[in-house]
Amino acid sequence: MAKSRPSLSSLAFWRKPRWRPAGSLAIVTGASSGIGRELTLRLADQGCRVIGVARRRERLDEVVSSRPSGTIIPVVGDVTDSSVCDAAMSEVHQLAGGRLDLLINNAGIGAIGPFFDADPQRLREVMEVNFFAVTQWSRAAIPCLRNAAAAQADRPCTPVICNIGSVLGHRAVPDKSEYCASKFALHGWTDSIRAELAAAGIAVVLVSPSTTRSEFFDSLVGTSPGQTSKSVGSWPPDRVAQATLTAIAACRSEVLLSWGGKALVYADRLSPPLIDRVLAKK
Ligand SMILES: NC(=O)c1ccc[n+]([C@@H]2O[C@H](COP(=O)([O-])OP(=O)(O)OC[C@H]3O[C@@H](n4cnc5c(N)ncnc54)[C@H](OP(=O)(O)O)[C@@H]3O)[C@@H](O)[C@H]2O)c1
Repeated sequence: MAKSRPSLSSLAFWRKPRWRPAGSLAIVTGASSGIGRELTLRLADQGCRVIGVARRRERLDEVVSSRPSGTIIPVVGDVTDSSVCDAAMSEVHQLAGGRLDLLINNAGIGAIGPFFDADPQRLREVMEVNFFAVTQWSRAAIPCLRNAAAAQADRPCTPVICNIGSVLGHRAVPDKSEYCASKFALHGWTDSIRAELAAAGIAVVLVSPSTTRSEFFDSLVGTSPGQTSKSVGSWPPDRVAQATLTAIAACRSEVLLSWGGKALVYADRLSPPLIDRVLAKK
C-alpha cells in the first residue's frame, strides 16, 4: 500500500509564524504614556485584551476608560517591584487560565549627562528599569507563553515576547552611557533568549526606535535641567506603535525603525572608528 506523503504546508518548519491580536491576551508595561499607551490602545482596538502596567494610576485609568470595560486591565505599580509582576501574572491566570499570547517589555527611562559626573545610583536605576525588570517579567511570563504555544493546534498564533530597545542599543553615543548600556544589555539578552525559546515555539522580537516624541525626555533620572538630547528628526509614538505591531504580527527578530537610525547603525558596522570620530566630544 502506498504511503501518504505529508504535504509541505503540514510541515511545522514550513509554516510562517504569525501573531494574531483578535482573541489574544497581552501584557504591555509602560502603558500610561508614549509608545506603550499607543500599543495598548491599538491592541485593544484589534480585539486583544491588554493588561496595562504603569505607576501613574490616573494616567492608566484614562487609557482604561477610553475603551470598552474589560478590554484593558490596569495593574498599577513599578515594574522593578516583583509583587507588581506577580499581580500581572495572577491576572493572566484569572483571565485566561494562565495562557499569555504577548508580553511587550516597553517601560523605560533615560538619563543624560557625562558618566564621570553622575551619581553611581543613576546607572543602577536605569539598569533596573530598562534591563533587570525586563528579564524578571520575561522569566515570570515564559510558562504562560509556553501554555499559549501548547494550545496552537486550537488557535494558530505564535506567542511573542517583544522588547522595546533603542537604536542606542546598537551604537552608543556620548552623554547617554547608562541608557546605552541598558539597551545594549537588552539587545544581547534578547538575541540569546530568542535562540533559547525557538524550540518552545515562542518568538522574541527586538524593536529599536530612534527619537520618539513622547514624555520620555520629561522624566529623565539623575539629569540636570540644562542637559538636552541632540537628535535629527523624530517619530510620533503612534507611528512607532504601528511599526512595532507589524513586526510582532510577522514575528520579526529585529527591526530598526527610522532611516536615521538605520544610517547610524549601518555606518557604524562599516567603520566604527569613523563613527567614533564623528561622535567624539570636542
Ligand atoms: N522616546 C524616545 O526617544 C525613545 C527612543 C528609543 C527607544 N525608546 C524606548 O521606548 C520605550 C517607551 O518610551 P516612551 O518614549 O514611550 O516614553 P514615555 O512616554 O516616558 O513612556 C514610558 C512609560 O514607561 C512607564 N515607566 C517608566 N518607568 C517605570 C517603572 N519603573 N515602572 C512602571 N512603569 C514605568 C511610564 O509610566 P509611569 O511613569 O506612569 O510609570 C510610561 O508609561 C522605552 O523603553 C524607551 O527606552 C524611547
